[in-house]
Amino acid sequence: MPIIRRVALLGALLLPSAAGASVETHLAAVLKFGPRVTGSEANAQARTYLEGQFRALGYEVRRETFTYPRFDDLGSGVEVGGRTLAGLALQGSVGGEVTAPVARVSGVGTPEEFAAAGVRGRIAVVDRGTLPFAQKARNALDAGALGLIVVNNQPGEVRGTLGERVALPVLAVTREAGAGVRAGERATLRVRVREGDVTGVNVVAFKSGVTRPDFLFGGHLDSVPGAPGANDNLSGTLAVLELAGRVAGTPLAGRSMFVLFDGEEDGLHGSRAYVKTNPELVRTLRGMFNFDMVGVNVTPLTVSGEAGLVEAARRASGVAGRVGGTGGSDHAPFAGAGVPTLFFHRGLDANYHQPGDVVADPALIREAAEVALKTVDALTAAPTGRR
Ligand code: BES
Ligand code: ZN
Repeated sequence: MPIIRRVALLGALLLPSAAGASVETHLAAVLKFGPRVTGSEANAQARTYLEGQFRALGYEVRRETFTYPRFDDLGSGVEVGGRTLAGLALQGSVGGEVTAPVARVSGVGTPEEFAAAGVRGRIAVVDRGTLPFAQKARNALDAGALGLIVVNNQPGEVRGTLGERVALPVLAVTREAGAGVRAGERATLRVRVREGDVTGVNVVAFKSGVTRPDFLFGGHLDSVPGAPGANDNLSGTLAVLELAGRVAGTPLAGRSMFVLFDGEEDGLHGSRAYVKTNPELVRTLRGMFNFDMVGVNVTPLTVSGEAGLVEAARRASGVAGRVGGTGGSDHAPFAGAGVPTLFFHRGLDANYHQPGDVVADPALIREAAEVALKTVDALTAAPTGRR
């Protein structure tokens, strides 16, 4: 590596973000918009804000859109004794509103249990477990029930899928809500759902003229409904922005691309779309670095992925590393396309996908960016051979 290039890269390692506001400022600004569900107004506001930050650092920004089908619960629940208990429609359920007496089935919803409970013309209530949701729903329909409520058999909400169309409103509720739905009481079951296409938007930032980057730094910007997504994954998003700031004035900027993926929480749609629409760029990448949940230290920062990248990260920073790994985030479609990937994370915290996901530590976010830079430095100092 020419000495000048190496010195400039070291500059990126040693200096704080060249320009732009701090991680603290970005965290506060973006969290104000609320959960960044793909297709939502908050998601669009966060995107616009972050695009502005990349531009302020001297990057060009382009948007890449993609569309996929999604099932949305628009607010479902059951009203009993003047109280409304919240629930979530099982994916594939029909929408509808039914008022009828409750039949509490003792069991998980076998045909025999439905028959014993006398559910015809009633709203049937069964326990989660043993049988697939669709089978419970089909049994309920066959037994003449007008609606079905599935009560969780463990703490928390149920986000479930029927996996097929069953012509019955089906709601899943927590154990606490289930206890409030008693046999013989009149109840109104409201299942409000929408099935339609949603459009996601990937934000791609790069220095003017860069079309074949060596390194792609990415993280998902979207979050799940009801969760502010500070750690999952504003933390990763801001690690990417921090990296963009650190490399802005260095030659590495000319070899890098920064991507904020959308649609991750609905099934890695943004990263899959990116890989599909940019095959040439993807083919020549030396590394894809994915940052997901790097703002809360459940485990110390861990990298997993391709052996050469893991080794470089370990050598450069002493970070914990694991070769291989599973695919629950945006590196997976790249790995599937043969790109060496490195996944940066700190484990699953207690607020994962919960309304309590409101905290991410700026120091941990900066540390993740720093480890990535050290890794790139180690790689460019000792080329791995794949070019
Ligand atoms: N942020 C998570 C992935 C993750 C898990 C990062 C553990 C770090 C540690 C991601 O947003 C997520 O929720 N993924 C889903 C799968 C995805 C295809 C919807 C998962 O892991 O269940
Ligand atoms: Zn998630």
